[in-house]
Amino acid sequence: MRLQEIRLTNFRKHIGLVCNPADGINLVYGPNGSGKTNLLEAVHYCALAKGLNTAPDRECLHFGTDYFLLQGAFTDDREIDIGVRIAYSRTSEKQVFLNNEELKRFSELIGRVPCITFSPMELQVVNGPPGERRRFLDNALSQTNRRYLEDLLNYRRILHQRNALLAALYDNASGREHLGVWTENLAGLAAPIVSCRLDFIERFLGYFRTVYAELGLGEEPGIGYRSLAGCLREPVSAECVLETLLDRFREIEQQEVLRRRTLLGPHRDDVVFLLNGIDLRKYGSQGQLRTFLIAMKIALQQFVRRQTGEKPLFLLDDLFSELDGTRVERVLEHLQGEGQAIITATESRGDSSINDISIQELVNASAK
Ligand SMILES: Nc1ncnc2c1ncn2[C@@H]1O[C@H](COP(=O)(O)OP(=O)(O)O)[C@@H](O)[C@H]1O
Ligand SMILES: [Mg+2]
Repeated sequence: MRLQEIRLTNFRKHIGLVCNPADGINLVYGPNGSGKTNLLEAVHYCALAKGLNTAPDRECLHFGTDYFLLQGAFTDDREIDIGVRIAYSRTSEKQVFLNNEELKRFSELIGRVPCITFSPMELQVVNGPPGERRRFLDNALSQTNRRYLEDLLNYRRILHQRNALLAALYDNASGREHLGVWTENLAGLAAPIVSCRLDFIERFLGYFRTVYAELGLGEEPGIGYRSLAGCLREPVSAECVLETLLDRFREIEQQEVLRRRTLLGPHRDDVVFLLNGIDLRKYGSQGQLRTFLIAMKIALQQFVRRQTGEKPLFLLDDLFSELDGTRVERVLEHLQGEGQAIITATESRGDSSINDISIQELVNASAK
């Protein structure tokens, strides 16, 4: 996947910015606050119809304006052009266009422009709350497995409805006979989701261990999946997960009514990251956390490429401030020949041993 051009209008700091990255590794530099992260966020919008974190669309409106527009022109590895347009205005819903056709569901965009990010904010994946790790899994799987994405969206919808029923049951006891149906519907979607995640972890670990070994740190990473249905370490079939879930749901039904929410399922599960068998979140140093994250992202790039046949776009925010010199060099070596990457930094760096990096300064119209 190759980004040919992106145009930003009234998006965050940028009133009007056009960026044309080259093939391979790109370095975009500019001082703090010049809008580098904003630029990567715009590219991310074009790939996944949303920003880098959970910020609402309206936060991206340039102060005092009432619409933003993003136009991305991509070419995939089969040389097929993909045009993405994201339009948002204060008065109407966000609109997403793929090759000039408006998408009814934003999820239709996901997977068309495979994209991987690495940013300081994402350290949350390794040391933040469980939701961040679920997001990592969901994001990786949604970009490579359409069925998973559909199941996940349906799961969220049914979860919402089941929670509403539980809340109603708490207030007044009638309607309890309907709960069983909702539980079955929910578990029926939860099971393939959990099974897919376990399968992903197993396959992903293969890439991950190799990348880690190549970074030459003499440490062995591991990933475990923690579910209220039990701690699962190996791939388990959807049928098996379903049985376990249904059993557990029966046990906790009363508790769920009292708490007025669904207490079990993939929306509550967590991932445990291990380094030499020790919980990284609890015991990892800052340097280890960062290395773990970048290694995961590089492994993810390889995984996505294998799954989709497409080299994903790689967006790396503030890479040099996140990692020390030798690790940066190793990362750059990995990125070479792996498709297009856009790296941001506060300074242009001419000291890298990798010499085919396209360097450009971020010049933004609003700063003039
Ligand atoms: N919605 C917005 N409208 C105008 N400016 C914004 C908006 N959101 C962020 N900014 C500005 O963008 C700048 C940060 O841009 P950022 O991309 O994070 O810079 P950096 O180059 O350091 O990565 C800040 O100065 C901030 O005030
Ligand atoms: Mg930044």
